[in-house]
Amino acid sequence: MHFTDSTAIEREYTQCDSATESLVNGDGEFLREVLEGLSRPHRAIPCRFLYDAAGSAIFDSICQLPEYYPTRTERQILEINADAIAASISGDLRFIELGAGSGGKAEILLDAMDKARAYVCIDISPVPLASAAAAVRARYPGLAVSAVCGNYLGQLDLPPRRALRDVCFFPGSTIGNFERDDARGFLREWRNRLGPDGMMLIGVDLKKNAAVLEAAYDDAQGITAAFSLNLLHRANRELGANFNTDAFRHCARYVSNPGHVEISLVSQTEQVVAIAGRTFQFAKGEAIHVENSHKYAINEFAALAGKAGFESVDVWTDDDALFSVHLLCVAH
Ligand code: TRP
Repeated sequence: MHFTDSTAIEREYTQCDSATESLVNGDGEFLREVLEGLSRPHRAIPCRFLYDAAGSAIFDSICQLPEYYPTRTERQILEINADAIAASISGDLRFIELGAGSGGKAEILLDAMDKARAYVCIDISPVPLASAAAAVRARYPGLAVSAVCGNYLGQLDLPPRRALRDVCFFPGSTIGNFERDDARGFLREWRNRLGPDGMMLIGVDLKKNAAVLEAAYDDAQGITAAFSLNLLHRANRELGANFNTDAFRHCARYVSNPGHVEISLVSQTEQVVAIAGRTFQFAKGEAIHVENSHKYAINEFAALAGKAGFESVDVWTDDDALFSVHLLCVAH
């Protein structure tokens, strides 16, 4: 569903809330996924459950950490190159932002793009969605602002395009949280949705020294550890599980081929965990996989986008080659 004015957002809000809540939390989905994930030979809990209210607040702190370079580096790349990015996109356009949590990155671009006529923000959580849309509406009175409450990974109903060029903005290297094949599938879906002159502006974290990557995902203050351990706290809070959170350790390891940081929670002792009448026996050193964060060389990502039906228009990076921002166009 989508909205084009703030009253509609407020009116539709409750509806949107319950519909999307059930996508993320409701209907016993967390319980089902935890039981299923812990029953596998290689135990795993899907990373989307990291972001409850507590997890989202911890993630905001991660973005400020000295070790976590992606957020600030991407912002800097956008600030330095905003005019060049705007100049590479011709014609009147509709700017579509995937996710509401980019903390002002869209504004850096919208300030530079005098040809933006419409802005669409898509997020699964109605609260950040409404505030992102309200902030853009207040700052750019001439822009037609829509908020789409839904899952940008799945079926989506976008407002009609009306002769504007679609430019989809996907910051934060969130693409890195897909397995490589799934990233290609995701790009292919958006390629088909954007129309023949569509473009995609996408932040992609780069391959680099393992020590730098591992520190970014396991900082000295232990904030990232708290973020992944929140998953077990959440299971205790919401599912009545009895994880001894002191007996699991956050672990981040860079696997250079194909290139991803693997994040897991490792049992420090032999222990048994009870959840909803089931018990799970952990060996000492046994891991619960939480997330992979995939890293790409610039050419490697351009090739992946190529397989998804995009052509590389340009790519911007920082002086230390930590992070990249790719501008892609639909290939014909
Ligand atoms: N997905 C983001 C990334 O890959 C978020 C993230 C940062 C994260 N630190 C984390 C996810 C630690 C899980 C655990 O950069």
